[in-house]
Amino acid sequence: MPSTSPTDPPPEAVAPLMRGIAVLRALTDAAGTLSLSELERATGLARATVDRVTATLARMGYVRLDGRDAALAPRLMELGNAYLAAIRLPGLLGARADALADELDESVSMAVADRDGIRFVHQATRRRAMSLSFRIGDLLPAERTGPGPLFAADWTETEWARWHERRAADPEDRGFPAVPPRTREVPFEARVEEARERGWALDDQLIEPGLVAVTAPVRAPDGRLVCAVSVVSHTSRHSASSLREAALPRLRAAVAAMERELREAAPPRPGPRSAALAAWTGASKQELGRDFIESLARGLTVLTAFGEGRDALTLSAVAEATGLARATARRALITLEHLGYVTAHERTFRLTPRVLDLGYPPLSRTTLSAIAAPHLAALATRVHDSASLAVLDGDDIRYTARVATSRIMSVNITVGTRFPAYATSMGRVMLAGLEPGERAERLARSELRALTPYTVTGPAELAAMLDSVARSGYALVDEELEEGLRSIAVPVRDRAGTVVAAVNVAMHSVRRTAEECVGDLLPRLRAAADRIEADLAVAGRFTRVATG
Ligand code: PHB
Repeated sequence: MPSTSPTDPPPEAVAPLMRGIAVLRALTDAAGTLSLSELERATGLARATVDRVTATLARMGYVRLDGRDAALAPRLMELGNAYLAAIRLPGLLGARADALADELDESVSMAVADRDGIRFVHQATRRRAMSLSFRIGDLLPAERTGPGPLFAADWTETEWARWHERRAADPEDRGFPAVPPRTREVPFEARVEEARERGWALDDQLIEPGLVAVTAPVRAPDGRLVCAVSVVSHTSRHSASSLREAALPRLRAAVAAMERELREAAPPRPGPRSAALAAWTGASKQELGRDFIESLARGLTVLTAFGEGRDALTLSAVAEATGLARATARRALITLEHLGYVTAHERTFRLTPRVLDLGYPPLSRTTLSAIAAPHLAALATRVHDSASLAVLDGDDIRYTARVATSRIMSVNITVGTRFPAYATSMGRVMLAGLEPGERAERLARSELRALTPYTVTGPAELAAMLDSVARSGYALVDEELEEGLRSIAVPVRDRAGTVVAAVNVAMHSVRRTAEECVGDLLPRLRAAADRIEADLAVAGRFTRVATG
């Protein structure tokens, strides 16, 4: 019998799932994108394996293949979302953290314990020069943070032993790619003792010169420590002790309100399940053949069985939620447990915060224009005309993404270009999406100028048009912005149904009649907007996606 070390995978482990996760981890550590040859080097996998793994991940919508590059795709955030929904913390407490950040005008974060590290599950960040801010999902060494000593106050001897082992094996904290190397030693045990006595902790530039934080623990009704909330500042504004003086009372009040929130929270509501997944992977297998690795897709699918009201699942529940055979689900769970993404306790499985290592930190910084770009490119290729994304900015629309075709157009539009909203198709769908009161107010305020002989400038006529746009869900504008230019637009809505942007296709008016625009283009335009909305819904579930 060959000897097995604690890190050897168990015999039931699913090797393709391990390879897929290695690829996702490598992309995450590389901030989201690597060429396929870089992936080969980073993972040590053969090129043919990298090709098949990335093809499978691309089919799942977790990775985008773009020439020789593989990039993490927003849909991947559904794995981290499963964890965040299961623990319910950002959902229940995130708004309180945001309010505290507004009140103090400092960044506020929520972190959970992850073995001998801490991992961020929420960030309410003030953007400032001279401040480094961590991303949701970033892992920090416990001893260099405010939350760490509070969590370590509950460590067992085994956990302390693991911490000592890690410190000896990794003296520069290279296992924590989000932080600068360790340069200073502060006795952790003493900080833990102090935190235990006081009930709060300080980080005086342990993670990074200039960064100071004060942290308090949040406890569940049963007394269990569920997360730690930190107020984070910079030495240009506060020393560690002046931050404590300025922020600790309000931090404690916010924590008390959070604990109340946890006591009074309604029971979790299990959301819709990811149904018929087994059938879905079967169909992909038929389509992609050898290049689709079913066991990888199924293994990752297991993570999505968890969520709000489904934080602790038995094997049978996982099998039922995913439509997988029990034996398949079991092997996936064993693999995920071996890799540290799942813990097992008395026949139930839970996700661990490590699930956030699968793409969450870089993807949590994604923007609406980045989300839209590949969908606009696909649309432009399909219809052979330019496709754009714009937001409402004052009385103008402002382009935030655009894919031009080689066709020469008289209007020279680039990202950042502004046009008056009332005379454009994208502007009209966004105006139509406003509350009636705000819509009327804007129209009354805008100076309605005729930009061509065809521009509609009558307030009543425009108002009627916007009503009709709101009903039909699209706007077609013919030569009102520029002669010879025709465009059709549809709105892009966020999870809450609010119109946050618009997408359009613009063309020379000889290219298609207005009827052809509606008959041929509109369904494709709507389909592209649907894909953007679906990605935005995943990405925006627990993070604020910048639209500007
Ligand atoms: C952060 O939220 O960026 C943060 C929190 C606590 C620390 C360091 C950084 O100790």
